[in-house]
Amino acid sequence: MTCEYFGKCGSCKLYEMNYEQQLEYKIKREKQRFSNFTDIEFDIIRSEEENFRYRAEFRIWKNFDDGDNPTISYAMTSFEKNTLEIDSCQIVSKQIQELMPVLLEKLQNDEEFRFKLYAIEFLNSTTQDMLVTLIYHKKLGENWIQKAKNLEEELNIKIIGRSRKQKEVLSEDFINEELNIDGENFKFHYKEGGFTQPNTKVNVKMIEWVLKHLEKSDKDLCELYCGGGNFTIPLSKKFNKVLATEISKTSINSALENCKLNSIENIDFIRMSAEEFVEALEEKREFRRLKDVDLKSYNFDTIFVDPPRAGLDDTTRNLVKDYEKIIYISCNPETLHRDLQTLTKTHEIKNFALFDQFSYTEHIESGIVLQKV
Ligand SMILES: C[S@@+](CC[C@H](N)C(=O)[O-])C[C@H]1O[C@@H](n2cnc3c(N)ncnc32)[C@H](O)[C@@H]1O
Repeated sequence: MTCEYFGKCGSCKLYEMNYEQQLEYKIKREKQRFSNFTDIEFDIIRSEEENFRYRAEFRIWKNFDDGDNPTISYAMTSFEKNTLEIDSCQIVSKQIQELMPVLLEKLQNDEEFRFKLYAIEFLNSTTQDMLVTLIYHKKLGENWIQKAKNLEEELNIKIIGRSRKQKEVLSEDFINEELNIDGENFKFHYKEGGFTQPNTKVNVKMIEWVLKHLEKSDKDLCELYCGGGNFTIPLSKKFNKVLATEISKTSINSALENCKLNSIENIDFIRMSAEEFVEALEEKREFRRLKDVDLKSYNFDTIFVDPPRAGLDDTTRNLVKDYEKIIYISCNPETLHRDLQTLTKTHEIKNFALFDQFSYTEHIESGIVLQKV
């Protein structure tokens, strides 16, 4: 991939390497990092080399001519931490890439859209659904709303307007996504503001990798940090019942919706932090949110965790190590390494995968299957 902003835009830090080289560099680094735990072969899951990000956010920059007329552009932060104006991005999906200049021109040509526009977020599905969030430093009035409705129709996209304490959803606040996982079709609503994996095609391969390492079980699955049910829904087919928890209300609501979309009935989703869930399981605290869930009715043998960059906190790490099988998806090898120091005292690493979700950056996603020894 070549991008005219390589070496300038601070987003793609590994700009001096081609796709293969940046992947090789990260594989070598991670094999070295985890060599004290395992010498098994790593499964390597590649990304597409460009147009792989299905969500993106850009700031809006304004230049003024002598007559004080503004011209707006997309902006990123440069390596020197300055504003870098860009007019394209090679890593975002083709549809986002094509929409970017068309949308900018529409916004540029209308004072109502342009004035105090601060940032734009794109959320795109592989099924061509597109949600654009326009973020402002001004109150959005009736005039803006009417114009944005027209723009939605004209560009065949969904628009949300956001400002301080204001959210204007003009049609829908989600996109429709359909993922083909091991030949089976799953439907999802990806909600604005909820977490979604940025590299949708690698995401499918991550789910398939996890499924490959799970036999069909008559026992139950416990999942922490479940988001909108991205893993939960396909994984539920392998278990008798699933209990899945997540801190974000937005994500739990879309998880419930996603369950309905796929006619799945063996999952209980609970909005609860991992830390609170540990307290509930250990009967240290009672939660009204759990009044309809009989925790004792579960017969868990597997736990699936996909925490944020901070990894597992002390109490959650302690809980996880009681399960026969642990599947850990991590977006931060540093905290994964820390957590494995505890988990490998009771469990053995059976499988290890590196998923190149964030190509051309230092980041990489990992997947580990651990079995109790
Ligand atoms: C890396 S995302 C994974 C989400 C989901 N597994 C997916 O694939 O889309 C991590 C999730 O953990 C949630 N989260 C963050 N801190 C949490 C906590 N302390 N307890 C429970 N969930 C938390 C976030 O809201 C986010 O949805």
